[in-house]
Amino acid sequence: MLYLSNSKIWRVSFLKILVVGGGGREHALVRKISESPKVREIHCMPGNAGIAAQGVCCRQIKAVDIPAIIDYAYKNAFDLVVVGPDDPLAMGLVDALEAQGIPAFGPSKSAAVIEYSKVFAKELMLRHGIPTAGHKSFDCHEAAVEYIRGLGSWPAVIKADGLALGKGVIIARNEAEALDTLRQMMKERVFGEGGTNVVIEEFLTGPEVSVLAFCDGKTVVPMVSSMDHKRAYDGDTGPNTGGMGTIAPNPHYTPELAQRCMGEIFLPTLRAMQAEGCPFKGCLYFGLMLTAQGPKVIEYNCRFGDPETQVVLPLLESDIVDIMLAVRDGKLDEVDVKWRDGAAACVVMASGGYPGSYRTGLPIEGLDATGQLPAGKAEIYHAGTCKDEQGRFLTAGGRVLGVTAIGSSLTEALEIAYDAVDLVSFEEAHYRRDVGAAALGRPLLPV
Ligand code: AMP
Ligand code: GLY
Repeated sequence: MLYLSNSKIWRVSFLKILVVGGGGREHALVRKISESPKVREIHCMPGNAGIAAQGVCCRQIKAVDIPAIIDYAYKNAFDLVVVGPDDPLAMGLVDALEAQGIPAFGPSKSAAVIEYSKVFAKELMLRHGIPTAGHKSFDCHEAAVEYIRGLGSWPAVIKADGLALGKGVIIARNEAEALDTLRQMMKERVFGEGGTNVVIEEFLTGPEVSVLAFCDGKTVVPMVSSMDHKRAYDGDTGPNTGGMGTIAPNPHYTPELAQRCMGEIFLPTLRAMQAEGCPFKGCLYFGLMLTAQGPKVIEYNCRFGDPETQVVLPLLESDIVDIMLAVRDGKLDEVDVKWRDGAAACVVMASGGYPGSYRTGLPIEGLDATGQLPAGKAEIYHAGTCKDEQGRFLTAGGRVLGVTAIGSSLTEALEIAYDAVDLVSFEEAHYRRDVGAAALGRPLLPV
């Protein structure tokens, strides 16, 4: 449709967008993209039951099935393909799409290396003076063992190279644990090829902050900061997970720190990637630790965080499609990226047993009851859900739902999010009751 207004030609609702992925992050992306008046149609691959319930056309094609995605994207002539997860990025999906003339949001394979190779990321930071934990890389088990035997201070952090779904990081409390980890990674290959190279890192302490940033290769625009809750159980105990809850903004991340991170970390990283011939376009995730010596990089991810996206995007006021197109075209400096005041909180409801083995196919009750909550403030992002023949929502993954709310303060957002959690149930559901406690300076709950 064409509209004439103030002598400018406005085309409305003309864009067709494909989102690749099917978790809570993708639900939040789809939700934000659907707010853009320019968008006519959204497809998702593979999506999930919550995304489909929003009128999005979900295709049962896996996010790593590159030929099938290219084929579908080409036939449907999408105006933009937004890639959520790390593995298709590491496999070169964005390069393959662009080679077919299909515009894509996300880094090229050569830039995605910043996440999938910890060795690359560490060496990049070392070469370009970007603050991070001291480290040594090893591709030989014997040399790594010798280094561990000579190490005077504990704990030490051992990271497998490559994508290990957030599980490739072990904090070894002593020599015996470290030797055990090296054997498992490098000899028994519990992380597959990830064990070919390992990084042994100095253990840092301090509050953690996640900062997602839009990057177009040369310009970096940080989003509202956030805080993840990676451990499975209350009191920050239990195994590491993909993330059990998030809050935004992160109160530890003051404007002064933000300025310091821009000068010492964000811009130097963008310039380093450009200088090394792999300019980063897309969303770059900075996992930071605020140490007594200043902010340091713990990790880079080449994509939106999950569940960080669920709390960051609801606070975005600007049209995300304008931003994504500007990122793709290298014109990010021409867009004004605006944020809402207030805060957001997301509580992940997971299947009993996650991150270990868990049952699926359990009916989810109460998803409609959230209509009782303050309008426009609560949103349930689906992560691992499907529908049965009767149209009931069932659990279908480890992280099932990201129950999210916005409020004028973090306290209000948390209250609404937990009110929503109380309305939803499925057998063996587990979630943390102390999301946001650390951010508010409250004691964590006992397990
Ligand atoms: P990652 O998968 O790299 O995000 O690491 C998982 C978690 O391990 C991080 O969120 C940190 O809590 C912790 N971690 C990673 N590297 C270090 C480090 N050098 N010092 C202390 N903790 C770390
Ligand atoms: N929430 C951490 C991540 O997305 O890697």
